[in-house]
Amino acid sequence: MPGHFGRPPAGGAGLPWALDWTEVEDLDALSHPTGVLRDLRRRAAAVYGADDAWLSVQGATLPVMAAILGTARPGATMVAERSSHRAVLAAALVGRLHIRWVLPEWDVDWALPLPAPPERWQEALPGARIAVLTAPTYEGVTRPIRPLAESARAAGAALVVDAAHGAHFGRSSELPPHPLTEGAAWVAHGLHKTEPVLTQTGLLLARGHRADPRVDEWWRRLSTSSPSYPLLLSVERYVAEREAGDGGWTLFAEMMRDVWAAAEARGFRVLQHEWARRGWPADPAKLTLFGDGPTLARRLRAWGAEPEMVGTRSITCVAGPRLGLSWDDWQALLDALAPPPPPGPSLGLPAPAPVRLLPWEADAAEWQAVPLAEAVGRIAAYALTPYPPGIPVVMPGEEIQDDTVQWIRAAEAIGVRIEGLAENGDRTGGTVWVVAGPVG
Ligand SMILES: Cc1ncc(COP(=O)(O)O)c(C=O)c1O
Repeated sequence: MPGHFGRPPAGGAGLPWALDWTEVEDLDALSHPTGVLRDLRRRAAAVYGADDAWLSVQGATLPVMAAILGTARPGATMVAERSSHRAVLAAALVGRLHIRWVLPEWDVDWALPLPAPPERWQEALPGARIAVLTAPTYEGVTRPIRPLAESARAAGAALVVDAAHGAHFGRSSELPPHPLTEGAAWVAHGLHKTEPVLTQTGLLLARGHRADPRVDEWWRRLSTSSPSYPLLLSVERYVAEREAGDGGWTLFAEMMRDVWAAAEARGFRVLQHEWARRGWPADPAKLTLFGDGPTLARRLRAWGAEPEMVGTRSITCVAGPRLGLSWDDWQALLDALAPPPPPGPSLGLPAPAPVRLLPWEADAAEWQAVPLAEAVGRIAAYALTPYPPGIPVVMPGEEIQDDTVQWIRAAEAIGVRIEGLAENGDRTGGTVWVVAGPVG
């Protein structure tokens, strides 16, 4: 095993066949590491200043789910932002949790979700066992974590920070601080999102929870038993690079602050710069420019680069020291993007719908497909999520409102894709699955 025996089939040259080993003698076992992988875990924990680290070849999804399921038992309450990654909802379904959603700040001007103000967390925390914060957001902005960590501790809730996009945080004093140093109990990273590691790698880091048996157990249950060693090798190279230094992040972060200013000199608004001016952490690896997203994406592609995210009123790019762009390259890129095109339309978000069932109850019930127009008053079986911005307008167990259906139609009309809505071939909205029978 694997069945290619390291020999590429015709046309397979260039792929890492020879490296594609799996768990054989001396290569250790990822679900119960006692050799080289245990050493790598320890080194990974050390470079992040963590007590323990788990190595993921299932992105940040596995770390987020294992931290939640290992911490909260069925029936416990979890507080999480409604804009959380779907791994958070998946863990709540598997773990039969109650969820108290915290609404992010919806910025109508940018048409983007921004971190929720602390008061919303304070209101939601009492009685919760676990709080899941996404920091940084996709656009690389976050509010200071320490006050929230203190409130969570006072409320008896474990703070899990989904830092899928922040694996580089704390690597240089020019970068935002790492959530562990800000008081988080658990931190989940996707490594490939901002660091030079192969796609699908991630880490779970812990402080003060050494050898937590429930997290270990959930980690094993949710993990593949055939981990990819090329992925693990790329994690090892990355850990070695971190042991050696800052990977160029200090110089890169300094340059990006000048890039923010250079973009503004060309008439652009820069989300990260506006955020940093408020004194809040903003990731220099992200560049979010204001203006019609599709137009900016076309200009960027003509220049030879691919955007990370295209909104109706912004474009977000991701960069890092490994990209190797010089100051002159950035000038040329900004010239290719300027002048800022007038922003596209912005919709507010519909008010959250009334909760009729817990998410797992809706999941366990019988489902029935109905046309969207007939779904008003029915209980959603799963989330309906517009992209952008990726915040579900309906969660499983919520009653679908007329307002929400109208909102979905307006969003589709401006090119927003609704995940969970099946096409039905006409322009009146698709088909949606709702709860049909008695709760299972
Ligand atoms: C905030 C957040 N958390 C978790 C994930 C899951 O990460 P992965 O795709 O590496 O499993 C993502 C993916 O984009 C994300 O944006």
